[in-house]
Amino acid sequence: MRYVITNYDETERRRLEALAALLDPFTFQQLQQIGIQPGWRCIEIGAGLGTVSQWMAEQLGGEGEVICTDLQTDFILDIDHPLIRSEKLDITQPLSGSDQFDLAVVRATHHHIPDRDAAARNLVKAVRPGGHLLYVEPDLHPAFCDDHPVWKRFWQALFQWGERLDIDYYTGRRVPAQLASIGMDIVSVRGETVLFNGSEASNVARDLYCMTLDVVLPHLLEKGFLSRSDGDEVYSLLDNPEVWLMSFCFFATHARKPAGAVSSE
Ligand SMILES: C[S@@+](CC[C@H](N)C(=O)[O-])C[C@H]1O[C@@H](n2cnc3c(N)ncnc32)[C@H](O)[C@@H]1O
Repeated sequence: MRYVITNYDETERRRLEALAALLDPFTFQQLQQIGIQPGWRCIEIGAGLGTVSQWMAEQLGGEGEVICTDLQTDFILDIDHPLIRSEKLDITQPLSGSDQFDLAVVRATHHHIPDRDAAARNLVKAVRPGGHLLYVEPDLHPAFCDDHPVWKRFWQALFQWGERLDIDYYTGRRVPAQLASIGMDIVSVRGETVLFNGSEASNVARDLYCMTLDVVLPHLLEKGFLSRSDGDEVYSLLDNPEVWLMSFCFFATHARKPAGAVSSE
């Protein structure tokens, strides 16, 4: 299984910190509505830095377990919490055991996985009947509607680049139908997006997009999807406090496995 990021270094750690800072509040709100109960067994897929796993572990009231997993474990193996076990896991491969989790969470990961259907089926199988699934995945539509032509061209270039790598930047809108098609009950679907500017003051969206641009711009230039002058202008826009820019929308899909579901094993 390949993943687009290959350097798990301090730069990538900082990018994941910015991603978590942007998405944690919305994710935690959704998890609060699900209502994590003491004693639950939870799993996080593609955990990155594991901020969601750590928050879930704090909700367990001292009993239960969170399995914090990722394809690469450099950033999660040193999490020190009595209820968290960190493991390497590729979600395109079947998990060992079925019907074992009360709650499974996937955030900003599903859109990177070429075989999203296999990944979703593997995870659904691992959730117990009556158990919960939360997917928080991006959808590019607000950014495509931005007023600024260069910002729009940047996202169009990213979209083209992603298509070649089987990254689906419209995954957010597609998750509910995908989960329903494999027998899940959809409880709710909500989206959140930010409008941000280039001010210095603790602007996590701006920080995240600056770091993401550093990673993707060389690829967009090399493939001819974006011109050098547009690339330079995107950096200027991200530094301009007078320009407000549209971002991704992240859709949170909360689904439940029907109580009477019978495992195919
Ligand atoms: C953009 S990061 C998101 C990290 C974290 N979920 C967050 O939202 O802060 C995507 C993560 O998915 C992981 N990943 C990619 N493909 C995967 C796969 N097939 N199975 C499990 N994790 C995968 C990557 O290693 C990376 O940590």
